[in-house]
Amino acid sequence: MPPLQNDRLIRALLRQPVDRTPIWVMRQAGRYLPEYRQLRAQAGSFMALCQNPELACEVTLQPLARFDLDAAILFSDILTIPDAMGLGLYFSPNEGPMFERTITCEKDLLQLKPIDPNQDLRYVMDAVSTIRRALQNRIPLIGFAGSPWTLATYMIDGGGASKKGFPKAQTMLYSNPKLLHALLDKLVDAVSDYLVAQIEAGAQALMIFDTWGGLLTPAAYETFSQQKMAEIVARLPKNHDGQRIPVVLFTKGGMRNLPGFVAAGTDAIGLDWTADLSDAKAIVGNQLALQGNLNPNILLSSSETIETEVKKVLASYGNVHSGQGHVFNLGHGITPDVPPENMAALIEAVKQHSPQYHQT
Ligand code: CP3
Repeated sequence: MPPLQNDRLIRALLRQPVDRTPIWVMRQAGRYLPEYRQLRAQAGSFMALCQNPELACEVTLQPLARFDLDAAILFSDILTIPDAMGLGLYFSPNEGPMFERTITCEKDLLQLKPIDPNQDLRYVMDAVSTIRRALQNRIPLIGFAGSPWTLATYMIDGGGASKKGFPKAQTMLYSNPKLLHALLDKLVDAVSDYLVAQIEAGAQALMIFDTWGGLLTPAAYETFSQQKMAEIVARLPKNHDGQRIPVVLFTKGGMRNLPGFVAAGTDAIGLDWTADLSDAKAIVGNQLALQGNLNPNILLSSSETIETEVKKVLASYGNVHSGQGHVFNLGHGITPDVPPENMAALIEAVKQHSPQYHQT
């Protein structure tokens, strides 16, 4: 396997020295790009893009043609797993992701189909291998999955419930914890197999999106989210040197769970913008890399403001020791209303202002 031409992301995730802070952006392929909107209209829907490996590859590459990014991320969705298990995923223009069927009782759970990702989610694995070939080792490809808890919130509440904080999932946690554990354990199996299959298909780093972990009490978080993710990380394969590909856990409202992430055996943590990176670093020390965490709304302001705010994020991480172990990203996905030139300003600011934190 020829080496990566640009391995900044991998090096930063492993806390090795780099010349500048690497940057990629959550949802970097998406609706803020006119070429994405055009291709999606042609394909008919978001899922039609995901399920066609050539189109998924084309969409993945779209932001890379415009911007000097340090990683590509598989174009897909975390909800492909519950869809393959039989819940019937669709996207409503107003409400986002929805399911035809939800999990309310043991009978629903028994009806979930066990999945073999290489068969039931073949389109994802074909997209991964197609993208890897197209990238020609220029930059690494990130694969991903949702955390069991975050997938369960959508599977129990049926999507559209994020604004309300997924009340049915939260109620199940207290009224029927056994059922919730059984669902989460099925998802531990499915997510582990899915990530292993993505590694085999060519993913070079992994993200686990625990977007809704911050909705839980610290005690519930440990039992119902963190421990399930730790089990997944422990199941990922290691090569003959005992190394596995780097894994990033992303969470919203995750500051208070940081010590648990160290215990989960991950390499890096993605944080939202409510966290201060220097505080986070003081907790995790040199054990983990950090990814984040510019407020995505800043991309709706001017290029001057973007530059000022980028400098603050870089300084919050790098002022204490250095920028080593920092991956620049937004604190959540880029929104559809961002002008693409502001994305260019963001990347330029990171390239210009981060090298000072990487002088040895
Ligand atoms: O980051 C990337 O560029 C990779 C692709 C990616 C998508 N979804 C594409 C997408 C990734 C990594 C995801 C993860 C995902 N999906 C998460 C976890 C991360 C996060 O955002 O918190 C969650 C919770 C989902 C579920 C999901 N999918 C929601 C809530 C929505 C609707 C939100 C929205 O922006 O409309 C989606 C749809 C979705 N997933 C879109 C994209 C590009 C928009 C689809 C479209 O309308 O074209």
